[in-house]
Amino acid sequence: MHWNPDDLDVASRYKLLIGCIVPRPIALVSTVDREGRTNLAPFSFFNGVGSNPMTLLFCPANKPDGSEKDSLLNARPIEDGGVGEFVVNVSTEQIERQVAGAAEPLAHAESEFDLVGLTPAPSVAVAPPRVLESPVSFECRTAQVIRTNPGEPAAGNIVIGHVVHVHVTDELINERFHTDPEKLAAIGRMGGLMYCRTRDRFEMPMGRAALNSE
Ligand SMILES: Cc1cc2nc3c(=O)[nH]c(=O)nc-3n(C[C@H](O)[C@H](O)[C@H](O)COP(=O)(O)O)c2cc1C
Repeated sequence: MHWNPDDLDVASRYKLLIGCIVPRPIALVSTVDREGRTNLAPFSFFNGVGSNPMTLLFCPANKPDGSEKDSLLNARPIEDGGVGEFVVNVSTEQIERQVAGAAEPLAHAESEFDLVGLTPAPSVAVAPPRVLESPVSFECRTAQVIRTNPGEPAAGNIVIGHVVHVHVTDELINERFHTDPEKLAAIGRMGGLMYCRTRDRFEMPMGRAALNSE
C-alpha cells in the first residue's frame, strides 16, 4: 500500500509515523517556566544531532487546539518568551512507570515531578533540574526552535539544544567513554502504547565488512 499524506487524516499520518519509526528513544525532558516552576514530560520524537558542538533535539507537537505544550513554552529561547534551557534525562526500565506517568497533562502550575515521585536535582549549568533517578542527563541550552506549521493542531516543532553539561552515573561508563547498555537498561517507544527494552542486542561491522560477517 502507498499513500500521499495529503489524502490521509492527521490521525492516520500519526499512526504511520509512530508505528513505523521504531524503536524510538525517549527523552524525559525537564524544564522550568520564567517563575521557576518545574515541568517534566516524555518525548520519543527525540535524537542526537551532532557532536561538534554536542547537539540534540526533541519534538513537542502542538496540542489539539493548536497551542504549544509547556515543554516548548519553557524551552524556547528567551527572546521567544521562554527560559532557553532544558534537560534531557534518559528513560530507563527503573523509572518506566514514572516516564509514562509524566505524560499526564497537568495544569501549567502543577509539576509532574510531584505527580510521579521523581526527584528534581540541581543542574550544574542550567536552571531546569535534572532527574536524580535517571542515570544520564544532558543539560541543554536551546539553540533554535523550528515550527513546521505554527498554531495548527498536531503540527511538529523541533527544539534543538546545545549540550552544556553531561551527567552519567559512574558505574555505567568506562574511561574510554563506553557506556554499558545492560546497566543503562534504556527503554524505547513503539506504536500505540507499546514500549521496548534494549536487552536483545547484536554487533556487526560497518560497510563491506558487514556483508561477510556472521
Ligand atoms: C513515552 C511517551 C513519548 C511521548 N513522545 C511525545 C513526542 O515525541 N512529542 C509530543 O508532542 N508528545 C509526546 N508524548 C506526549 C507528551 O509527553 C504529553 O503531551 C505531555 O503532557 C506534554 O507535557 P507538557 O505539556 O508539560 O510539555 C509522549 C508521551 C509518552 C508517554
